[in-house]
Amino acid sequence: MSQSMIYSNKGAFFIENVPVIQIAEDYGTPAYVYSKKIIENTYTIFKESFHKLDPLICFAVKANSNIAILNLLARHGAGFDIVSGGELKRIIAAKGDPKKVVFSGIGKSIEEIGLAISHNILAFNVESEGELYRIQSVAKSLNKKAAISIRVNPNVDAKTHPYISTGLKDNKFGVDENQSIKLYQLAKDMDSIDIKGIDCHIGSQITEIEPFIDSTKKLVSLIDHLKTLGINIEHFDIGGGLGINYKDESPPSFTDYAVAIDQIIGNRKLKVILEPGRSLIGKAGALLTNLEYIKEGSSKNFAIVDAAMNDLMRPSLYDAYHGIINLNTHQSEQKEYDIVGPVCETGDFFGKKRLLSIKDGDLLAVLDVGAYGMSMSSNYNSRPRAIELLIDNNKVHVIRERETFDHLIMGESILP
Ligand code: LLP
Repeated sequence: MSQSMIYSNKGAFFIENVPVIQIAEDYGTPAYVYSKKIIENTYTIFKESFHKLDPLICFAVKANSNIAILNLLARHGAGFDIVSGGELKRIIAAKGDPKKVVFSGIGKSIEEIGLAISHNILAFNVESEGELYRIQSVAKSLNKKAAISIRVNPNVDAKTHPYISTGLKDNKFGVDENQSIKLYQLAKDMDSIDIKGIDCHIGSQITEIEPFIDSTKKLVSLIDHLKTLGINIEHFDIGGGLGINYKDESPPSFTDYAVAIDQIIGNRKLKVILEPGRSLIGKAGALLTNLEYIKEGSSKNFAIVDAAMNDLMRPSLYDAYHGIINLNTHQSEQKEYDIVGPVCETGDFFGKKRLLSIKDGDLLAVLDVGAYGMSMSSNYNSRPRAIELLIDNNKVHVIRERETFDHLIMGESILP
């Protein structure tokens, strides 16, 4: 199993210097728990791997949008990749710098574009001709100039789950290389548009280096070609997508990734932007959940826990693997279990056929849920969302309170 932020010492499990059982006793379950040290170390190692290019690292907010975490990254100099007005408002609430924000996404509304222009974001990653015209017209009405990149879809296979692959010509994202040239020429003649960069993002949880090499090469030759047309590209936004090790994957290291990109860019004068999400935060979170019942059937054993698919969608949605460990130590017989939640759907599971030695009341941890965990959670089955905790050495900080029933019906009303 992959290396986890939870480690054992003399028979007890810890996150940083706090015993995990104590966290669950004090704050209840289900609970998302993050390690400040791992977040900071990962960010620093990522940045240092790229020291030659000195890129702007724009954390993909969708991976984990808690403002305490955004603030932590902002303090270390991070910028942000956003996909909505809500995410921009989170950056502001987290004291992040809007001037280090790139705005991706295929459906930006007039309001969102106006909000972003008024906060002077670094660049819009433009995904269609219609969007380019819309940005021009909103910028003009505000008497401002909007900085843009065109998101190019390089038609490379990221070899990842089809739902999280974005760089194939059949995907809804970006425009192809020929169309991008047309858009740059249009943009050049728009009085409220500033051409700043070029952008791509080919998918997520990519565990091989080749797709990154292929797409970077394609974009770099496009940049060279644009130059011959009198269009000067200042920054190259390579997107995110670097995978992590959930089970037995071996994704490229930060250094391998950095070296590959550095070699392709060569001595071109380009400011590099990266949009990592998962690779920065995925390993830094665990979901603590209490084992409510063991249910032994004739063909299967179930371990029913108090977290569910509404808390963590990834196994249900992508059949994703997450390690699951028992944080209690005892001598129960090892058996195979499906770890499932209380939601009324067969797809509500965290793991299947896991060999565990467990009994009722045990505390389990679902690992590597720092990215796309809480940020994809819902209230399905009228389940209040989990508490979020950030561990800093021997301190536990509540960074989002557990929801209550009042949160669930907020804004709802019955007819008079
Ligand atoms: N930039 C753009 C434009 C994106 O769409 C994404 C993720 C990222 C950056 C960050 O990608 P990362 O470095 O995290 O791979 N919910 C799915 C992942 C969806 C990713 C969507 N886009 C999951 O749980 O696996």
